[in-house]
Amino acid sequence: MTHIHTVATQPIAGQKPGTSGLRKKTPVFMGRHYLENFVQSIFDVVGAEGKTFVLGGDGRYFNDRAAQVILRMAAANGAARVIVGQGAILSTPAASHLIRLNKTDGGIIMSASHNPGGPEEDFGVKFNMPNGGPAPEAVTEAMYARTQEIVEYRMLDAQDVDLGRLGRVSLGGMVVDVVDPVADYAALMESLFDFGAIRAMFAGGFRMRVDSMCAVTGPYAVEILENRLGAAKGTVVNGTPLPDFGGMHPDPNPTWAKALMDEMFGADAPDFGAASDGDGDRNMVVGRGIYVSPSDSLAVLAANAHLAPGYKAGLKGVARSMPTSAAADRVAEALGIGAYETPTGWKFFGNLLDAGRATICGEESFGTGSDHVREKDGLWAILLWLNILAVRKQPVAAILAEHWAKFGRNYYSRHDFEAIAADKADAMMAALRGSLAGLKGNSVEGMVVSGADDFAYTDPVDGSVSQKQGVRVMFADGSRFVLRLSGTGTEGATLRLYLERYAAGPAGLDLDPQEALAPVIRAAHGIARIAEFTGRTEPDVVT
Ligand code: G1P
Ligand code: ZN
Repeated sequence: MTHIHTVATQPIAGQKPGTSGLRKKTPVFMGRHYLENFVQSIFDVVGAEGKTFVLGGDGRYFNDRAAQVILRMAAANGAARVIVGQGAILSTPAASHLIRLNKTDGGIIMSASHNPGGPEEDFGVKFNMPNGGPAPEAVTEAMYARTQEIVEYRMLDAQDVDLGRLGRVSLGGMVVDVVDPVADYAALMESLFDFGAIRAMFAGGFRMRVDSMCAVTGPYAVEILENRLGAAKGTVVNGTPLPDFGGMHPDPNPTWAKALMDEMFGADAPDFGAASDGDGDRNMVVGRGIYVSPSDSLAVLAANAHLAPGYKAGLKGVARSMPTSAAADRVAEALGIGAYETPTGWKFFGNLLDAGRATICGEESFGTGSDHVREKDGLWAILLWLNILAVRKQPVAAILAEHWAKFGRNYYSRHDFEAIAADKADAMMAALRGSLAGLKGNSVEGMVVSGADDFAYTDPVDGSVSQKQGVRVMFADGSRFVLRLSGTGTEGATLRLYLERYAAGPAGLDLDPQEALAPVIRAAHGIARIAEFTGRTEPDVVT
């Protein structure tokens, strides 16, 4: 017998979801009524009666327990059906795909993305809409408002659902479909890419290393790359998702995926290397002896996407976040397609994808994706690279060299200054914003400022305006820097300094990025007075 309980509760401070949902330390989520209050607030806002949802997460600590709670609450709130990944596992892009494929009413994704997992680390819950993309701000604001007034939640009194077993079960009248988390996603990838060509490349001796960082992409990468595409067994390392990600920080960048970088720059390096993050939406790609910056990756993918069957008709447009380098814009110009510059955060791409204005999108923060889902997609990017490599039959280094020779090179780097006292970071940004009007024409460290502004974006689809999305300072030689504060950090403020300098080909294309950017770095520190306000002269993370 099952009973629905109405549990009395009260608002809990700080349940404010950001653009990536609600992210908190795991013990906070495990606290009394905490998860339940937020989940009830989701259902109160989107409505659950008679609806179908997708449920899954990146497998981090508490993922399995949270899934059982969410299932019982969905049933208690009258949902008709929940499609849940076996073991409560779904990568974020796979969840986005299942939401769309099954024409559901949305989905709940349990993840804190690339943040470490474990009993003392991070957990997160976010709601995605029927289009497969993250809930827009109006919806998350409504959820937040609901958490502030909640007085009860509904819970079915029932045994755990056996999420280890595939198939259909009933939970208090609600249908629970436990599905293979990989199958539909792998089929989607197979529909987009030339698996035959990639298989032939592997059969010809092509070697690859994929670091899944003990996070969710392991089973996806093993099935797609090793089982279906014939990559050698052991191509995927750290391929078993662990509740604490094996102690790894599953953020695919040269700092956190150092073992992969070392291997790709070592003797006997494989042909291609890749890593993805906790929930599988981010990616880093590396060639033998050459790192591909995410901005360059986006540009190369846009220039070559037509080589993959799913994109052979060409692209409708390319979108990038403002701090991402302009390399993709040059490709769009050459292709005669639209180029869009949006604020930081994947949600801004959703409207462009839904409206058919853009096909491929990317951010400098290791996020790349297309209109096949409404999230960035790490494995998708890796597979598109493989498809391109299989068709062009050239090493990554040669593909980059040809790309730069044709389009010029946008030297690019991001410097992060982490855990700064929030008041100091705010004071620095305020002073910088106050100085913008007088900057034009100034020469700082030999660099002449040609313009400066605070990026504002008007969405071309719905006309909504987003102000203060980052300070941009442009120089007469075409270089620029951007400064903004992170919206996802959990400790103090994180200052992100984005640096870019364009070199037209064919000369000056093989400099070290940090050396090429040295004058821009000096000018940025001079103009923003970073050391004076924050006491920091060196960044904590350089990508
Ligand atoms: C960071 C990245 C941003 C990305 C977001 C979510 O946000 O910079 O590009 O969309 O994580 O993955 P930030 O901390 O800079 O606000
Ligand atoms: Zn992620």
